[in-house]
Amino acid sequence: MSEKIIYEGKSKIVCEGPDSGSYILRYKDTATAFDGKKKEEISGKGVLNSAISNLIFEYLMKNGIETHLIKVIDDTSAVVKKAEIVMVEVIVRNVAAGSFSKKYGVPEGTALKNITTEFSLKSDELGDPMINDSQITAIGIATADELSLMRAQALKINELLCALFSKMGIKLVDFKLEFGRTSGRIILCDEISPDSCRFWDSATNKKLDKDVFRRDLGDVLEGYREVLKRLENNA
Ligand code: TMP
Repeated sequence: MSEKIIYEGKSKIVCEGPDSGSYILRYKDTATAFDGKKKEEISGKGVLNSAISNLIFEYLMKNGIETHLIKVIDDTSAVVKKAEIVMVEVIVRNVAAGSFSKKYGVPEGTALKNITTEFSLKSDELGDPMINDSQITAIGIATADELSLMRAQALKINELLCALFSKMGIKLVDFKLEFGRTSGRIILCDEISPDSCRFWDSATNKKLDKDVFRRDLGDVLEGYREVLKRLENNA
């Protein structure tokens, strides 16, 4: 735990890596929502998200997706490729929920006739506003080629994750991805965990994700433990 901290985020810390091409990513127990306005320490969340995200990244890598993950070090840390994060979040939705339901008046749980993709600007101060392709390229956050690459990767990742999670009896409602630039390529970075996805039990629609924390619905880690248990048996 003695490496130099390069950046401390809300739920993870980026530290200096073992060489110039890598970082160490450490998961924290902090849970936040509403751009950090709601915040709580939840002992054990870091270990669970680290295990879940590493298993998902390893599954995606086995299936041809390039990610930042190099090596898991311990139960909350991994060595990852150094990458410059593209400052947009890529959100994929299979089922209406959350801000989509609220914004467009579509009840949560409504199946969508097609998969949707959208981008949000990564900025807590501005409340992560939704941003379109022409606005992103106009500001210079990413090029049109980078946007089409990220969108195509996100849809491929959705296909792979839907296949995996349906085997686990979990509906992948929606999720958020972040990508980074490294050696002239765009690769999947950050994490994929119940913090960044909506996971509903296929049989009961029980929420197994951070909405339990966002909406004060009970013991948030119960769902995270369930997701990990099912992943360990299927990934
Ligand atoms: P939303 O419905 O609130 O826009 O969330 C869509 C998905 O993105 C959901 O799976 C939760 C995830 N998400 C994040 O990972 N970080 C965020 O800051 C927000 C708002 C959502």
